[in-house]
Amino acid sequence: MGKTICLGIESTAHTFGVGIIDSKGSILSNPKSQYTVIGKAEGLRPFDVSMHHYNVALDILKQALGQAKLKINDIDVIAFSQGPGLAPCLTVSATVARALAEKYKKPIIGVNHCVSHIELGKTILKCKDPLVIYTSGANTQIIAKDSGYYKILGETLDIGIGNLFDSFARDLGYGFPGGPILDKIYMDNKKRHYIDLPYSVKGMDLAFSGLLTATKKKIGKEKTEDLIYSFMHTAYAMLLEVTDRALSYTKKKEVLVIGGVAASRALKEMLEKLCSQSNATLYIPPEIVCLDNGALIADLGLKHYIYSYGRKGGMRLCDTKINPKFRTDQVKIDW
Ligand code: ATP
Ligand code: FE2
Repeated sequence: MGKTICLGIESTAHTFGVGIIDSKGSILSNPKSQYTVIGKAEGLRPFDVSMHHYNVALDILKQALGQAKLKINDIDVIAFSQGPGLAPCLTVSATVARALAEKYKKPIIGVNHCVSHIELGKTILKCKDPLVIYTSGANTQIIAKDSGYYKILGETLDIGIGNLFDSFARDLGYGFPGGPILDKIYMDNKKRHYIDLPYSVKGMDLAFSGLLTATKKKIGKEKTEDLIYSFMHTAYAMLLEVTDRALSYTKKKEVLVIGGVAASRALKEMLEKLCSQSNATLYIPPEIVCLDNGALIADLGLKHYIYSYGRKGGMRLCDTKINPKFRTDQVKIDW
């Protein structure tokens, strides 16, 4: 069988991207454009972000085809991010995908953005059935595949670890994002004096707000390096306790970390120890797996096309409605 080529369109949040990937796992192109907020107070207004995406869409699409040296007719299947995400933003990838699919008579497949991070990690690192630690700004979840679905075994009950770090770093007067700054200070600190801080694991779930409040109260009363070390170490120890339990429960032999916090060297150091004790292999992916881009969507769209539809067509147009609350455990994984 020859190569199958998928074009994937991402637009769940701040990034509009188009990626082209083939069934040998090669990423042929992956241009993107990110909406950035000018002025700090406001935050992200979904409608403004969607306007940015509509404005850049055609240009990014042309770049993707041009860099891959392909014409739209060389594409076998069009995939788009169907959710979860901001509704006005999701309409952009859905609209562009439907227009291309209808005009050029191509199959169309809507995919789940969170699952796409896991799946591109598996494609690139060639791991098969990992326990997944998804840890980003807003999310912290322990996920494992069971009976054809990704199940969430445990998660944060309040804030994600990335936001936890960013919030503490802001109070210390560091810039945004604070996670990488704290991570560097942790790794440069050779003494590693531990200060006792609240530790809160509830069954398989985690709660970080008590840790955050207690640590903030100690600012100025303890040495900053000690506080940063103890704060991160406690947060990661909580995450590792749940990971350890999930490993013995699921009997998985691979651990895959995704999300922005996967870049943390301190987390890597702690996970390496846990994985060697548990005889599991640790997989920490390159940036492309954790940042938002079109290749994520193309990779998952291609897998659905090959394994779920047997290379015969894709979704009916009436099933391509966006789904802002699309959950990770709603996707049937047929591979
Ligand atoms: P989500 O995808 O869940 O909506 P997001 O887009 O904010 O959230 P990501 O872009 O995946 O999340 O990750 C960003 C987070 O990762 C930030 O909170 C940042 O502080 C954290 N982060 C990035 N690098 C590191 C690092 N080296 N150590 C610790 N944290 C880090
Ligand atoms: Fe993402």
